[in-house]
Amino acid sequence: MRRKLAAGNWKMHGLGADLAEATALSLAHPAPGCDILLCPPATLISRMAATLGQSPVAVGGQDCHATDKGAHTGDVAAAMLADAGATHVILGHSERRADHGESDAQVAAKAAAAQGAGLTAIVCLGETEAQRDAGETLAVVGRQLEGSLPAGATAANTVIAYEPVWAIGTGRTPTEEQIAEVHAALRAGLARLLPAEAAGIRLLYGGSVKPANAAAIFAVPDVDGALVGGASLKAVDFSAIIAALETAPPA
Ligand code: 13P
Repeated sequence: MRRKLAAGNWKMHGLGADLAEATALSLAHPAPGCDILLCPPATLISRMAATLGQSPVAVGGQDCHATDKGAHTGDVAAAMLADAGATHVILGHSERRADHGESDAQVAAKAAAAQGAGLTAIVCLGETEAQRDAGETLAVVGRQLEGSLPAGATAANTVIAYEPVWAIGTGRTPTEEQIAEVHAALRAGLARLLPAEAAGIRLLYGGSVKPANAAAIFAVPDVDGALVGGASLKAVDFSAIIAALETAPPA
């Protein structure tokens, strides 16, 4: 059975003072019924990992370079994230695909680098509103899935996050039927691409997950958790989402 995962993406938010939110979260969930992950900006990873110590709340990065070292000013290698205390890294987020022109092939190369450093890659994909309106959603996410997964992807080192671009930070979410349709298609795609691993790979939903809608989203088949942006910044909100995930039916 897949253990559920509540992952928080702090994006470009967070200073040292905000580590108190991570501490509050860990105190609220000393023995959680799901995996919990916080992905702060790179500048906070080592401090957050040190602050959390042996707490079950894990720490992740938000991007890594595809190579392990070199003349890449401003970039961070996967091994550096691991060295700082990260166990996971978000890759191919739509904001990076849009802001930095990241292609599926680059995301796959980054995911391979993450694997090499012992990190679990959370590979993000999702359609734009124009693509959904054009009826292209399943084709788009199918292409992204196939192109963004490296050889050697396993249930242990890979998580997929379905994040419709139009639902991120907008307060809008797909219907439960729409989420179910995409997650079923992703599970089927995984079964074709990685037959031995597909049943174990966790599929997260992301995009305007809030305490108020979390339980309904977590009841959707094949939703194994969430990748949460804005509502992960405050422990009280993220904690309510985690509580909904802990009591959700098995996906
Ligand atoms: P919001 O939860 O703020 O919509 O962000 C979702 C997201 O992009 C998580 O990676």
